[in-house]
Amino acid sequence: MSQSFKRTTVTAALPYANGPVHIGHLAGVYIPADIYVRYLRATGQEVLFVCGSDEHGVPITIRAQKEGVSPQAVVDKYHRIIKDSFAEFGIAFDTYSRTSAEVHHETASAFFEELYHAGKLEEKETEQFFDPEAQQFLADRYVKGTCPKCGYEEAYGDQCERCGSTLSPDELGHPKSMLSGATPVKKATKHWYLPLGAYESWLKEWIIEGHTEWKSNVYGQCKSWIDQGLQSRAVTRDLDWGVPVPVKDAGGKVLYVWFDAPIGYISATKEWAQQQGHDWEQWWKSEDTRLLHFIGKDNIVFHCIIFPCMLHSHGGYILPDNVPANEFLNLEGQKISTSRNWAVWLHEYLQEFPDQHDVLRYVLTANAPETKDNDFTWKDFQARNNNELVAILGNFINRALVLTHKYYEGQVPAPHAYTTEDQTLIQDLAAFPEKISKSLSSFRFREAAAHMMDLARTGNKYLAEQEPWKVVKTDAERTQSILYLALQVAANLGILMEPFLPHAAQKLRDMLRLDSKDWTAAGRADILKPGHQIGTAGLLFQKIEDETIAKQLAKLENTKKENEQAAQIFEPAAKKETINFEQFMAMDMRVGTVLEAEPVPKSKKLLKLLIDTGLDKRTILSGIAQHFSPEQLIGQQVTVLVNLAPRQMMGIASEGMVLMAEDADGQLRLLAPTEKAANGSQIS
Ligand code: 2FM
Ligand code: ZN
Repeated sequence: MSQSFKRTTVTAALPYANGPVHIGHLAGVYIPADIYVRYLRATGQEVLFVCGSDEHGVPITIRAQKEGVSPQAVVDKYHRIIKDSFAEFGIAFDTYSRTSAEVHHETASAFFEELYHAGKLEEKETEQFFDPEAQQFLADRYVKGTCPKCGYEEAYGDQCERCGSTLSPDELGHPKSMLSGATPVKKATKHWYLPLGAYESWLKEWIIEGHTEWKSNVYGQCKSWIDQGLQSRAVTRDLDWGVPVPVKDAGGKVLYVWFDAPIGYISATKEWAQQQGHDWEQWWKSEDTRLLHFIGKDNIVFHCIIFPCMLHSHGGYILPDNVPANEFLNLEGQKISTSRNWAVWLHEYLQEFPDQHDVLRYVLTANAPETKDNDFTWKDFQARNNNELVAILGNFINRALVLTHKYYEGQVPAPHAYTTEDQTLIQDLAAFPEKISKSLSSFRFREAAAHMMDLARTGNKYLAEQEPWKVVKTDAERTQSILYLALQVAANLGILMEPFLPHAAQKLRDMLRLDSKDWTAAGRADILKPGHQIGTAGLLFQKIEDETIAKQLAKLENTKKENEQAAQIFEPAAKKETINFEQFMAMDMRVGTVLEAEPVPKSKKLLKLLIDTGLDKRTILSGIAQHFSPEQLIGQQVTVLVNLAPRQMMGIASEGMVLMAEDADGQLRLLAPTEKAANGSQIS
């Protein structure tokens, strides 16, 4: 980081408030951002960490339609769940706002107006997809079709979830409306566009030449976008949920969610500054402020190209200095998917693993998808907890503290002459803060966490080799030195663990009665002075048993089965020939109740039913023996075709037919009124 920066504004992608957040979100964005911010704070730097819920756009309205509630109800529900999950995991935002807030509507609206009045937007009438049945324009995710890049048949109008390509609805093969399933038609509509092409040479200079230090996945994606040539992007949509377009006669149009959402970082800052009595502008407009966006790889183009073009075109704003985007995290070898419920949901994890927030933080950092997609497995989660957090870090701390209590009643002993091993330990210790800082400063969080664990490993190895529990029997002075140094390593961990494992670090500092988490004190071998009284020793981490992991795996196995069942493609039988009204009316269908049911001797398929049809009590044979037991049927209401000519089967006369539906899995379902109806009620 260049010396000229006085403060840092850190943003973390605003998650859509259309569902809870999962481990992929944490690993990709929020944990690295939080580690970085905690590190900056620990090193005494001025930093503002902003985030909030992204509450506009089609993902929200589609969810609302699915749940049969209003978009506001959807965002209210998930904003709370998401905010609470982040807080529990210790993601230490200075502010977590939301884009439905008034300050955001005002800020986004004013931003658009300023571009509009400065003539920075193009106004164009184009033909766009329209659902003739639902009488609605089909923005973004309201259209599905075949991805032109990978052939995936369920790609959205704005993005393919399989290959990650950003798309426009026009590119989809066989487009279909998500509202009615209808094939959309084209209809003229007016929109406002950001002319990205006009910024091409500026972008080349700013990114391609100016930011060669960006992570290669980020730099590469930007370069490829710019090299392909940039088209104007519509920044408004025909929708009724979002920030209204502040232009006369633009009724029924709102700002595109990707136009308003990043402005959400600015509105969140304004809201926070207002509450705190600060000046928001210094975080967004001062040249000595460094701006960093933490995001996932699907957000790169928006944060590296579109939002910077908006800021540049508006003028007066600083631009991101870096955008350390991560790749994706998979779960047990499969892409995390909200719609297929293939995820570890944070609110569920918190219930199932109470007090183990830091374990997940650690595993997701140690295995972060920094340079390529990575896989989360429950076995790896267990192994990292049991073999690293418990066996190395927890074990070291526990031994150092328990022995201090045992030998010195919890008082830090005074050291005596140091041996060569002690000198080596002191030298090693001194190098750790710098090593960790270096990794963190270049956004290499896995490497940083590995260094932190190496420090615990160093301490553990030192105790194992010095064996104070043996030395104590013969050499009191030597034992004091060993435990004095072990406690210094523990104190260093209390500081250096903080960005990665904030809950455990606090617990450790409490156990050591260490007040400061000031990074600049780390590396020293005299943090805890001789005679300092430490607190009670407790366990930092707990072993995770095989059964706990088996339960999680079984849960996923169950999800897999449910998905397989849902994926069985149901091909409805071909439509029969059209009949006229009279033919339909000729069928006499009634509600009846099954009074008796019994198997038919020598028949595997047939059941003999006695049915009260309201008109009479009659016998009907039905080929349902493999689907229902007689007990399941007795007392059930059913639909009976009562004027079907009687038929002889297995020597028994069947007087009518009980109606059934055959499901995708071949299972039969009874057709009964949803509420009890009188026997004999006519169906028409
Ligand atoms: O991909 C997403 O989940 C978006 N809601 C991210 C928005 S980031 C920002 F621009 F607000
Ligand atoms: Zn694709």
